[in-house]
Amino acid sequence: MDRKRTLVTGGPCFIGSHLCKRLLHMGHDMLAVDNFYSSDRHNVLDLLQDPRFELIRHDVTFPLYVEVEEIYHLACPASPVYYQRESGLEELLRKGMDAGRLRFTTSL
Ligand SMILES: NC(=O)c1ccc[n+]([C@@H]2O[C@H](COP(=O)([O-])OP(=O)(O)OC[C@H]3O[C@@H](n4cnc5c(N)ncnc54)[C@H](O)[C@@H]3O)[C@@H](O)[C@H]2O)c1
Repeated sequence: MDRKRTLVTGGPCFIGSHLCKRLLHMGHDMLAVDNFYSSDRHNVLDLLQDPRFELIRHDVTFPLYVEVEEIYHLACPASPVYYQRESGLEELLRKGMDAGRLRFTTSL
């Protein structure tokens, strides 16, 4: 069983919550980060019961120092007007390089 420590930004969002469920099912230790701009913890209420799932309120445009091996970057407003202005990708790329692997990102 794979026990990777994995970060999903936007973990509580529509797509992120399904991804978190899948990764937990695959045996990952999960860290989800979100500022709840367009979601809330209700999408992941069931996951919060799992000791391998951790949720942090944080804006990804600011640095966050965590030890992870993989990053899935979904934390970005879905509207192009917003994601072209500020996506958090720069911070994530920095983390991704530290982590060694940026696994997946959606909107740039
Ligand atoms: N749903 C689609 O059809 C679709 C299509 C193409 C790309 N995408 C992309 O996939 C990702 C997830 O989409 P979704 O439909 O679940 O949208 P969503 O709006 O539910 O997801 C965005 C998540 O990012 C969080 N977020 C936004 N800015 C943040 C910040 N600065 N720091 C921390 N968290 C922040 C929001 O609170 C939310 O949980 C988004 O990046 C979106 O642009 C979605």
